[in-house]
Amino acid sequence: MNNTTTTVASALDGTKTAENLRQAFSKEAEAFAKGSIFASIASDEGNMSAQRTLAEHSDNDKRHAELWLGYLDELGDTFENLAELSALKAASSTNLYPLMAEIADEEGFDEIAEKMRLVAAVKDSQSRMLQSESDRIADAQALYSENPETVWHCHSCGFNVMGNTPPERCPLCSYPQCFFTRG
Ligand SMILES: [Fe+2]
Repeated sequence: MNNTTTTVASALDGTKTAENLRQAFSKEAEAFAKGSIFASIASDEGNMSAQRTLAEHSDNDKRHAELWLGYLDELGDTFENLAELSALKAASSTNLYPLMAEIADEEGFDEIAEKMRLVAAVKDSQSRMLQSESDRIADAQALYSENPETVWHCHSCGFNVMGNTPPERCPLCSYPQCFFTRG
């Protein structure tokens, strides 16, 4: 989240435009998911021209969804994103799907109720996995800050550098931080 995005998001608080951005995001997310699923169906049918068009449009729609989410100031770094998605999936697991499954039971849709409970279990598992990823980042950050004399090795060019974190980019080959491991 940069300062410009945060400023725009503050100005949007409580406006109809903010509400519309949320709706636009939902529509684009739906179009992205449907486009992706329909592209797979086209592929299964051997219609590769339709598959390419659907897949490209689906990717366009994902970008549009990302654009509106950015204005809503909801694009965090990976640590923040993992926490947000973990909470979302935990809520689906403990509230949304169990309640929906109960209603499906009451209305006689036994199979749908069962599938909803199975998906709820997957959401619970996913939430825990995302939380573990988030914990791993927190642990790594704590570890970095405790070890200022760590040697970091660039696997692109072999350069070694000292510090409590690897550099954002390698001073020698300019490859990004993810190419560094402890030397
Ligand atoms: Fe390098």
